[in-house]
Formats: sequence, C-alpha cells, structure tokens
Amino acid sequence: MKTIFPLIVLIFIFSNCKTDKKSTEKSLDPKLEQIILHSAKSYFTPLEAYELNKQSPEKKRMIELGKTLFYDKRLSNNQNLNCASCHDMKKYGTDNLPLSPGDNYKFGTRNAPTVLNAHLQYAQFWDARERTVEDQAAGPIFGNFEMDMPDTTTLLDRLGKVDYYNKAFKEVFPMVDTFITIETIKLAIGAFERTLITPAPIDNYLKGDMNAISTKAKLGIKAFVDNGCIPCHSTTTVGGQMAQKFSLYGYYWDYTNSTHIDKGKYEVTQDPSDKFVFKVPQLRNIEKTYPYFHDGSVDSLRDAIIIMGKAETNIRLKDEDVDNILEFFKTLTGKIPDYAFEKKK
Ligand code: HEC
Ligand code: HEC
Repeated sequence: MKTIFPLIVLIFIFSNCKTDKKSTEKSLDPKLEQIILHSAKSYFTPLEAYELNKQSPEKKRMIELGKTLFYDKRLSNNQNLNCASCHDMKKYGTDNLPLSPGDNYKFGTRNAPTVLNAHLQYAQFWDARERTVEDQAAGPIFGNFEMDMPDTTTLLDRLGKVDYYNKAFKEVFPMVDTFITIETIKLAIGAFERTLITPAPIDNYLKGDMNAISTKAKLGIKAFVDNGCIPCHSTTTVGGQMAQKFSLYGYYWDYTNSTHIDKGKYEVTQDPSDKFVFKVPQLRNIEKTYPYFHDGSVDSLRDAIIIMGKAETNIRLKDEDVDNILEFFKTLTGKIPDYAFEKKK
C-alpha cells in the first residue's frame, strides 16, 4: 500500500499535465469574449439536426425513395453514375475534384458544390438558376455533362421496369395518376436532400457553449467580421443567400489562374449587369469541400481566403487573420447523419 499511494498521486499529477489544447490556450478578455459572441449571434444562426425518427411513416417512405434514387446508377444513360458519384457523403457531399467526369466521360466547366445543407440556400447552382433542390433535381439527370439521359420517356420506362419503384412511388404518391413522373422523382430526391443537415461545433457555441470552439476560432469570427466578409457570408449557411460579382476588385482569373472564363449569371440571363455574378456559396463544411470556387481552380482554403480579401473586400489580409479565419471555418465542419450514407449491399 505504501508504494502504491505515491504512484497513484504521481499518475494523477502527470495526467493533469497532459497538454490539453484548449486549457493551454490563452483565454480572451471577458469583454472581448462577450463582444465576439454577440456579433456571432447577430450574424449567424444555429443549425438543428434533422430528426428522421420524429417524421411520419409517409414522410420516411418518401425520404427512403429519394435516397434510393440518389444512389441509383439507372438514372444515368450508360449507368456509370449516380448522384453520389459527384456528391459523395464520404467527401462531404462533393467529389473533391475541380471538375467532374460525366456519364459519357465529358467534363463540364463548373465544380460540384456540396448537397449538404444545400436546400437552406436561396437558390441552387453557381449561377443561382434554380430555386429549390426539387427544381434542381432533374437538371443533372438530363445534363449533357452529368447523367446525360436522352429524354423523359427513356428514364420513366427504365424506372417503370423496377418492381421496387412501382411499389414505392405508388405508396408515396397515391394521389398522382401516373406514379412515376419527373415531378414525383424531383419531390422524392428533394425530400432526401432536405434531411442532409450537418450541425457543427459552431452551433453549440451559438447556443451558448463557450467551450465549443477554440480561442483562435473566436478570433477568426472577429477577423471575418472586421474584414468585411459578413455582408455576403452570413446566416445559418454562412452564405448561399445572394449572388454577387466575382470579383468586385480586379478580375477573378488573375487571382485563381482560371483557364476558362465563366461569365456566371450572365450566361443564363444575358443581362450585362449579371456578368461575372455568381451565387455566394454557403461555407458550411468548407474545410472538406475543396477545391474552391465555381471552377475548382484553387486547392487550398488558405489561398481561397486570401483571394476573397483581395477580390471582394480589397483588403490584404494579415497572416494572423487568415490563420484565425481558417480555425473559424473548421468549426463549420459538421456531422453527416448516418442514414445519409449508402446502405451496404
Ligand atoms: C457528373 C457529376 C454530377 C452528378 C452525377 C450530379 N451532380 Fe449535382 N452538381 C454537379 C455540378 C458540376 C453542379 C454545379 C453546376 C452549376 O452550378 O452549374 C451540381 C450542382 C448540384 C446542386 C446545387 C448545389 C448548390 O449549392 O448550388 C445540387 C442540389 C445537386 N447538384 C444535386 C444533385 C442530384 C440530386 C443529383 C442526381 C440526380 C446530382 N446532383 C448529380 C455535378 C453532378
Ligand atoms: C461581395 C460579396 C462577398 C464578400 C464580401 C466575400 N465573399 Fe466569399 N464569396 C463570394 C462569392 C460570389 C464567391 C463565389 C466565387 C466563385 O467561385 O465564383 C465566394 C466564395 C468564397 C469561398 C469559396 C467557397 C467555395 O465553396 O468554393 C470562400 C472560402 C469565401 N468566399 C470566403 C470569404 C471570406 C473569408 C471573405 C472575407 C475576407 C469573403 N468570402 C468575402 C462573395 C463574397
């Protein structure tokens, strides 16, 4: 007993000496701490997890149908691709490629954005050309550079031959005469996408847990506010609520080295005031959804932050501010719901 007791004391002392990142970090002056929390709460709102268990049996069936479609390669002409080929849950709803190969191995000109929390944005696509995830869902199925289905009839005939779909569409959409239609496909996929919500450490902080994020991340929020990022990147999704010119200062390709000059919204509207206007992307899970910008031209998040300073706020960001903003961005990395992943076959 005599020898064990000091040993226990020693173990106790050593275990407390373990360098715990948070406890060794300098804490903020309480007044500054309050100011940062206050501004965070005025510009951002917390995300709430999607509670699948609390949904009605009908709703759950619709989500399940949407999920099956999302993971079904029959939605592409040569059956090479499903939605998850470019929006992979293991890669936070993207493919981490600058541009994605389509069903016929052709490449488009735009980077695949994440499907996580996408429905919370004011519009879909880099040029904001579709409003909701339901409006959006048929686009990639018939898109030349995506799933490349030739026409509606081919798609509906193909799905109509699958027993599961005949049964499931009838159950989920009993009020529609022909159960499998483009509209019901869009509704089901949209229902699944609306469950893809990823609460993160920032949300616990916004709800008042001061220890949920590090001091550096808090200083990152301050740097984000002080350097003028908020007018475009705020609310629950830290962006995704408007379209803006890229760049306000200079030309984006001078910063990104883009080889293809994409005119953004102008390509759809032909309105000169829409030239180089792009949707301000959401920044939830931004650490994981590299590469960055509409053409995936920038690999590093650090570089993307520095470019934003030059291009959108005309500020050469201080190194320390960039470091802290990076830490803040990491607090936006959330938990993807388990049921969102493909079922093991
Ligand atoms: C070949 C790759 C590819 C496939 C397959 C694909 N997508 Fe996409 N997705 C993209 C690209 C690229 C964009 C951006 C296009 C643009 O902005 O013009 C996009 C955009 C989106 C967006 C808009 C997100 C935002 O923030 O603007 C959603 C939602 C989406 N896709 C869902 C789907 C669904 C559902 C499917 C299956 C039916 C699908 N995608 C299949 C590549 C793909
Ligand atoms: C005037 C509006 C505006 C301001 C201010 C602004 N941004 Fe952006 N941000 C955008 C737009 C538009 C894009 C998309 C550009 C593109 O790819 O076409 C973007 C893209 C980004 C991206 C890349 C997202 C992705 O998914 O590829 C990051 C990171 C980012 N902004 C961070 C910041 C930071 C940090 C600041 C402050 C220094 C800031 N932004 C200020 C409009 C703005």
